[in-house]
Amino acid sequence: MGELDNKVAVITGAGSGMAKASVKVFTREGAKVVAADISGAEQDVATEVGGVVLPVHCDVTKEADVKALMEAAIEEFGRVDAVLNVAGVADGAQLVDLDMEMYDRLMDVNLRGVFLGMKHGIRAMLPTGGGSIVNWSSVGGLNGNAFTAVYNASKHAVIGASKSAAIEYGPGGIRVNVICPGYVRTEIMSKDAEAHMPDIVLKAALQRGGLPHEVAEVGSFLASDRASFVSGAVIAVDGGWSAKLA
Ligand SMILES: NC(=O)c1ccc[n+]([C@@H]2O[C@H](COP(=O)([O-])OP(=O)(O)OC[C@H]3O[C@@H](n4cnc5c(N)ncnc54)[C@H](O)[C@@H]3O)[C@@H](O)[C@H]2O)c1
Repeated sequence: MGELDNKVAVITGAGSGMAKASVKVFTREGAKVVAADISGAEQDVATEVGGVVLPVHCDVTKEADVKALMEAAIEEFGRVDAVLNVAGVADGAQLVDLDMEMYDRLMDVNLRGVFLGMKHGIRAMLPTGGGSIVNWSSVGGLNGNAFTAVYNASKHAVIGASKSAAIEYGPGGIRVNVICPGYVRTEIMSKDAEAHMPDIVLKAALQRGGLPHEVAEVGSFLASDRASFVSGAVIAVDGGWSAKLA
């Protein structure tokens, strides 16, 4: 028995990192998964994982793609029980040098993408009595950092949008929660992040970087019926980073 037996989950950003790890954890727990990404790597992930995984090419910033994504889930598996809005991009700049193309790109993927995932995910879930949405923010959604104001703003906004969605659709049986990862060793962080920022692993009380599956396990819990009274929650999965004063 898996904790997600008979559930259908749509996971964005599934070609890499924490979303790819989520595909693995969710299939292990018995879910049928729709793995969505813009990169094409969703095809490789479906082959690699080998469970019940439908790869779908999807740009989360395009409403037609996200609508089609939920329709593909319903056509293939009959329903949508969970949506994990994981796809994200990161970049940084000094505010005085802010490039508005970078602003649009970060806001489009990190915030617009989450709004579209919630809009069409909720529409898909309401007819079957509810479900679970898990949105990926960041420790950068809880506090600020030099050079990453746009990223921080997009991730703070994800938290606000998620709390409002939890309130609006709680009566419809839909739970909406947020995961705030700390430093996790994935492709979004440049391969030599630890070489350039040796202190980054020391941010965590546990004094190490997280692994993608360690975050995916929390997503699996939130999507499961074990989390049936958890909604509107903002959960740090950061090895204790956000517990620190400085
Ligand atoms: N890695 C970290 O340390 C860290 C820390 C805090 C928060 N996060 C957040 O966690 C989430 C996952 O990050 P990750 O580290 O696993 O990243 P990753 O780079 O490994 O994976 C991100 C995936 O999103 C996909 N993607 C990008 N734009 C897309 C679009 N328009 N449509 C569809 N897919 C798109 C990419 O192709 C990629 O496969 C992101 O939202 C990120 O901001 C990461």
